[in-house]
Amino acid sequence: MCGIVGYIGNDYAVPILLSALERLEYRGYDSAGIAIIEGDKLVVEKKVGKIRELIRALWGKQYKSNIGIGHTRWATHGAPSEVNAHPHTDERGLFAVVHNGIVENYLELRKELEEKGHHFRSETDTEVIAHLIAEYYNGNLFDAVLKTVKRLKGAFAFAVITPLEKDKIIGVKKGSPLVVGLGKGENFLASDIPAILPYTRNTISLDDGEIAVLKRDSVEVYNFEGVPVSKEVFVVPWDILSAEKGGFKHFMLKEIFEQPKAIADTIGGFLSQDLTLPFDINRINRVITIACGTSYHAGLIGKYWLEKYTGIPNEVIYASEFRYADIPVDENTLILAISQSGETADTRFAALSAKEKGASVIGIVNVVGSSLDREADFTLYTHAGPEIGVAATKTFTAQLAILYLFAQLMARRRGLIDRDGFYRAVEKLNEVTRKVEKALELNGELENLASRYKKFKNFLYLGRWLNYPIALEGALKLKEISYIHAEGYPAGEMKHGPIALIDENMPVVILAPRDRVYEKIIANIEEVLSRKGRVITVGFEGDTVLKNKGEVFIGVPEVGEDFTPFVNVIPLQLLAYHIADQLGLDVDQPRNLAKTVTVE
Ligand code: F6R
Repeated sequence: MCGIVGYIGNDYAVPILLSALERLEYRGYDSAGIAIIEGDKLVVEKKVGKIRELIRALWGKQYKSNIGIGHTRWATHGAPSEVNAHPHTDERGLFAVVHNGIVENYLELRKELEEKGHHFRSETDTEVIAHLIAEYYNGNLFDAVLKTVKRLKGAFAFAVITPLEKDKIIGVKKGSPLVVGLGKGENFLASDIPAILPYTRNTISLDDGEIAVLKRDSVEVYNFEGVPVSKEVFVVPWDILSAEKGGFKHFMLKEIFEQPKAIADTIGGFLSQDLTLPFDINRINRVITIACGTSYHAGLIGKYWLEKYTGIPNEVIYASEFRYADIPVDENTLILAISQSGETADTRFAALSAKEKGASVIGIVNVVGSSLDREADFTLYTHAGPEIGVAATKTFTAQLAILYLFAQLMARRRGLIDRDGFYRAVEKLNEVTRKVEKALELNGELENLASRYKKFKNFLYLGRWLNYPIALEGALKLKEISYIHAEGYPAGEMKHGPIALIDENMPVVILAPRDRVYEKIIANIEEVLSRKGRVITVGFEGDTVLKNKGEVFIGVPEVGEDFTPFVNVIPLQLLAYHIADQLGLDVDQPRNLAKTVTVE
């Protein structure tokens, strides 16, 4: 949700800023811009559209600046346009600001500044930051920023440069992510790690309420009172190759194929992590999972495992719904906050509000050092590597792996299974890795299926029990990257209303593994067939019952009843991918979406 970058060093800043922005483009791509200090002047270049438009606009300009900031935008206040694109400056063009997040009191601040004679150009909340800094500037940028941050409400991160102090970039974090990259004779600022991976793996994660002053040879961090704060350097475990497409047409396809490794690495990571929890697990009498989107779907599946193996009731609630509802939470409640990025505002703030009420919070995150990682009482990591495609794929199955392992861990800690039982469960999950690998062989089949079904305007996805969330996930994948309307539904609920939608123009993808609800789902398939729905079934390979029903049968490798979500989601991810690709859509950067959603 908007990406910020900054560079100060001895190299030309423009190519570094553009390359870093390209790596952050998954965060937003309505417009992009940079500000550099060229000689004694601030130069701002911005363009509507993707970063490549900005690159075209800069072609041949040969700027020599060694300091600059850049931005890729996901519009919140003000439509995507050149005037609303970042960087924003004050009226005299002395202070350039790039910003991620929302300044909630910007209207009030704008009015105050207008009364003082400031003239605004854009409709954005960001512009007030540049004007406030200009208003407070009295020969010291740091002091002006300190005064400015005290006036801003909301969750945000921003960076500022000025030709009046050419030796520094100042970065501020309060609620939105901001990472400092440490180089030799150069330093970087970015909303997310992949932006700086080609240059350095040594980073400092800023905490909320911190300000970083980046110079060529130093980085100093302060709190909002201006007091120096000492920070640890964190070495990012990802290498640059993990953030490249590696011969695949899209990141999404590469990431779909990385799932066996992501699951295996997650199991390995879990087993090698110190799992001493900082609270008494035996006092927990209720678990509430909070998450958004795909992470929420993983949470829904985790609930079945946790309740099955521990008997502890587990509700799963959209984080955005949790925060403002009066859900009883106390010190006996465990919150499982699931977030790939660890930066999703809804999830973070819901977790923090539960923590304030005394609950213990376990974060399940993919990005080490992210805000949720630092705010949770304890973190379980998915070791999926960086996920660049906007649609979550490998992090979903890695989250499933963690949730399954967590259920086993809880069962073990509560004495419900012994050590051998725990390791038997781990071994079963390990075997699933190979089944997922096998399921990926369906790629060609799904590519053909996509060409047959891409013309339809609506899809239904049905499943029961563990596969109801997979139906939701399949529908989410299709709608977010192919813009085809799709609904996921519990198959048994169809007869209570949605069955009215079914006719010969409605492809219905039905998940029907041989599990405890198999007979029931076969009955649901019949209901759809008798209303002329176009049935696509997903079941265990060799299932002759399914083969003789519907238009298409997709056979996935047989797995134990607990593990069907792992293999069933694969064809649904591939179907969505190939439909979007064949429709000529931008698979990795679908319209209106951003990878990390840092606004509520
Ligand atoms: C869907 C997708 C989103 C995210 C959601 C939560 O493919 O990627 O629905 O799952 O925005 O993101 P995280 O997990 O980063 O909190």
